[in-house]
Amino acid sequence: MKKNKIGVLLSGRGSNFRAILENTKKGYIKNTEIAVVISDKSDAGGLQYAKQENIPSFFVNLKEFQNRDKYEEKIIDILKNHEVDLVVLAGYMKIIGENFVKNFKNRIMNIHPALLPSFPGLHSQKKAIKYGVRYSGCTVHFVDEKMDHGPIILQAVVPVLQKDTEETLSIKILKEEHKIYSEAIKLFFEGKLEIRGRKVFIKGRD
Ligand code: GRF
Repeated sequence: MKKNKIGVLLSGRGSNFRAILENTKKGYIKNTEIAVVISDKSDAGGLQYAKQENIPSFFVNLKEFQNRDKYEEKIIDILKNHEVDLVVLAGYMKIIGENFVKNFKNRIMNIHPALLPSFPGLHSQKKAIKYGVRYSGCTVHFVDEKMDHGPIILQAVVPVLQKDTEETLSIKILKEEHKIYSEAIKLFFEGKLEIRGRKVFIKGRD
């Protein structure tokens, strides 16, 4: 049977990528492989790890392209050449353009380290602490044209304690990220996610 294929985009250490890889290997996400890893940073830890694991991996340097559209076309090309069914943003620090979204309509996921729509953008954990919220967490969502905005698939909640720092809160949230990202991907490939407007319905659960 042909395997489902994931394309991962990342910019940094790649702990989410590693967690997902682990879950494909041990069959939690069934019949699925990470077909390609793409990074916009040559020194991303995740890129090194992909090489070590013999997963096709590419560094795509924005500076080598005339403009952002051309840069994204290259990424889309690579993803298509590797017959990717689902694009997973795992700490990818660039905004996804309209053309990219169109090419992979409802087939791009992102994880954000806050309970969206609270604290979009960068430094969410720091913002959550500063704001004084009692709970934060993480959100897996489909990607649309706006940043940290598309239909929400899963969220996990963690308590924010007065003694928490950006670092301790990030660690707590990351632990949950590693669980719900794989769960969302599993549900996707099981055909259990249905998007209706802004909402995602999970078959058998909602
Ligand atoms: C995670 O906190 C994720 O929510 C955010 O970027 C971070 C990536 O971490 N989008 P890692 O590279 O997966 O370890």
